[in-house]
Amino acid sequence: MIWTLKKASFRIFHMSMKLGAMVLPFPVPKLITGPGSVKKLADQVKADGLSNVLVVTDRVLMGLNVPENLLKSLEAKGIQYKVFDDVQPNPTIHNIENGLQHYRLNKCDGIIAIGGGSPIDCAKVIGARLVNPSRSVRQMRGTFKLWKSLPPFYAIPTTAGTGSETTLAAVVTDSETHEKYAISSLPLVPKYAVLDPELMIGLPPHITSTTGMDALTHAVEAYIGLNGNRFTDKNACDATKLIFDNLEKVYENGSDIDGRNNMALASFYAGTAFTRAYVGYVHAIAHNMGGMYGVPHGLANAIILPYILDFCQVEAEKKLAKLAIAGGLGTSGEPQSELAQRFIDKVRSLNQNMGIPSYIKELQEKDIPLIAERALYEAHPDYPVPRIMTQKECEDIIRQLMP
Ligand SMILES: NC(=O)c1ccc[n+]([C@@H]2O[C@H](COP(=O)([O-])OP(=O)(O)OC[C@H]3O[C@@H](n4cnc5c(N)ncnc54)[C@H](O)[C@@H]3O)[C@@H](O)[C@H]2O)c1
Ligand SMILES: [Fe+2]
Repeated sequence: MIWTLKKASFRIFHMSMKLGAMVLPFPVPKLITGPGSVKKLADQVKADGLSNVLVVTDRVLMGLNVPENLLKSLEAKGIQYKVFDDVQPNPTIHNIENGLQHYRLNKCDGIIAIGGGSPIDCAKVIGARLVNPSRSVRQMRGTFKLWKSLPPFYAIPTTAGTGSETTLAAVVTDSETHEKYAISSLPLVPKYAVLDPELMIGLPPHITSTTGMDALTHAVEAYIGLNGNRFTDKNACDATKLIFDNLEKVYENGSDIDGRNNMALASFYAGTAFTRAYVGYVHAIAHNMGGMYGVPHGLANAIILPYILDFCQVEAEKKLAKLAIAGGLGTSGEPQSELAQRFIDKVRSLNQNMGIPSYIKELQEKDIPLIAERALYEAHPDYPVPRIMTQKECEDIIRQLMP
């Protein structure tokens, strides 16, 4: 009885969020796209009147010279920059505070993030801390806590991926508590996003596959959740089709520039969908695998996605069937249940073909209750999932992920 009432209260909350999402002024980043497009950003930065930007990235990317063309074009336009490359995967509060100091010490006037979701998210929260100096990162946790505009902020994704270049979210790790959580506020949407597939050519196959599965998870969770609308549904369907058509291609051949371009677009579309329609239990559990064991976000999502689809297959059958059709797996004349099953099978076969396991190797039985508790704390009531789960059901699903 109490559980029934609780579920009803979650559904009321979801409905209010759906209405809220319809009236909230979601900013949309202006896009600069196509091979070589990173070189065009400096013109925009100059036109925006900036003269000294903080470039947020990570050491691996600096070692691979991925930001080279960006930095050269800034120099050519006479724009000074300071590189902050101390961002680690699953960025921490420490990384953010460190970047904030660099911005202040160098008297920067804008931020360019170039990297995967980790540098982009770190840069978002550096910007948020700058304009909200009296609020700690922990105090920003949750939804719609921030309202002040960030300094001019440009995002250049080098994975396809998180979609962070279009979302209102930043995911941070608290190294003290081993928690990973989202800060979701409208000002975190970047002003500009540059989608340049040339930056993604050197992305190794195992990161190509897992980040691509993160994008697929965004599309799927946004689509099968209860808070989608025509706009988010279209973005989720387009992303799914692009991912089914291109992910394995770029996993096999990283230099396939058309494939990379399509994956960059897919990631952007999926981000556009989930930032309005939310994610679901896959992300809630994955974030906690990241916080607890440092499991990369995309890898955790890829592994968990089929199990959650099994869990909600009946409730989400109609939408999974539609997504299967959108993804080119069947036609509308076929039985819904078969199409839905085919969709789940496709997710499993993508994982298998790209060497992604069906378990989380770091997972320990003793941690399962806490991971489940934290995942449900994240998901309830925020995520408008098709089927609401209990602590016991969540623990049972996580147990299936044991090595
Ligand atoms: N803000 C959002 O909306 C959102 C959504 C989903 C996930 N996330 C978060 O984003 C983070 C993960 O981001 P990610 O999956 O993009 O990975 P990442 O940024 O952590 O990068 C993973 C690794 O790939 C390397 N790499 C990145 N681009 C490369 C390239 N072009 N060539 C070679 N190596 C490259 C990086 O140096 C790093 O070692 C997680 O913290 C996750 O929780 C955020
Ligand atoms: Fe994600």
